[in-house]
Amino acid sequence: MTFLSSKALQFSVRLAFHASLSGAFLVAYLTGDEDTYHMHVFAGYLVLVTAGLRILVGLWAPDGSLLRLPQPQTAPLCDWLRRLVAGDPSVIRGRSPLLAWLAAGALATVAIAAATGVVADFVTKAEHLHEALSEFALWMVVAHVAVLVILNWLKRVRAPAAA
Ligand code: HEM
Ligand code: HEM
Repeated sequence: MTFLSSKALQFSVRLAFHASLSGAFLVAYLTGDEDTYHMHVFAGYLVLVTAGLRILVGLWAPDGSLLRLPQPQTAPLCDWLRRLVAGDPSVIRGRSPLLAWLAAGALATVAIAAATGVVADFVTKAEHLHEALSEFALWMVVAHVAVLVILNWLKRVRAPAAA
């Protein structure tokens, strides 16, 4: 039997990665100034290690596993956006291709922000870049959560009409 073949176990591992990434990212984001620098470095490295492991596990996971990384695709996204602009109500049915883009974007930008933090620890000139990329990562995470919440809310309020 392949390791992590149970869906329940895959789901728990995915959730644990997600919780660790979100929590450590929030702590790192809030502790960037000098007074809390040790906590910042600890939380930042935790983000880096968790994101790195999540990416490795995602690359190793077979097709169909819940641990596969999100697979952003351009054509379905363009089609979905075209229908959204045209006001087609079918955009809220099914799974939006935007979710995979935002989940992958959040994971990538958070990992890059943490990696530039390690560089900024040695190269003072890289501090501004690190700060800017951290802000950008925060907005990606906000977009990831906001789109999930909005699409779920729309599904709920439109469901009786669609039935
Ligand atoms: C550092 C911050 C975050 C990153 C890097 C991130 C990344 C990801 C990734 C890569 C996925 C795809 C599945 C997985 O690998 O787990 C995902 C899914 C998900 N995330 Fe996040 N996330 C973050 C924060 C959050 C927060 C704060 C929330 C909610 C409060 C959230 C809610 C969700 C939900 C509900 C899903 C499943 C969505 C679906 O069905 O596709 N995420 N996230
Ligand atoms: C995703 C994880 C991280 C986030 C979100 C993050 C966020 C930030 C933010 C917002 C600042 C600017 C704080 C301010 O000037 O008020 C900052 C500064 C800094 N961060 Fe990070 N960081 C992360 C990881 C790391 C890591 C892993 C390291 C080093 C090991 C690091 C090293 C630094 C350094 C050297 C500064 C400049 C400190 C200063 O101006 O005194 N960061 N970080």
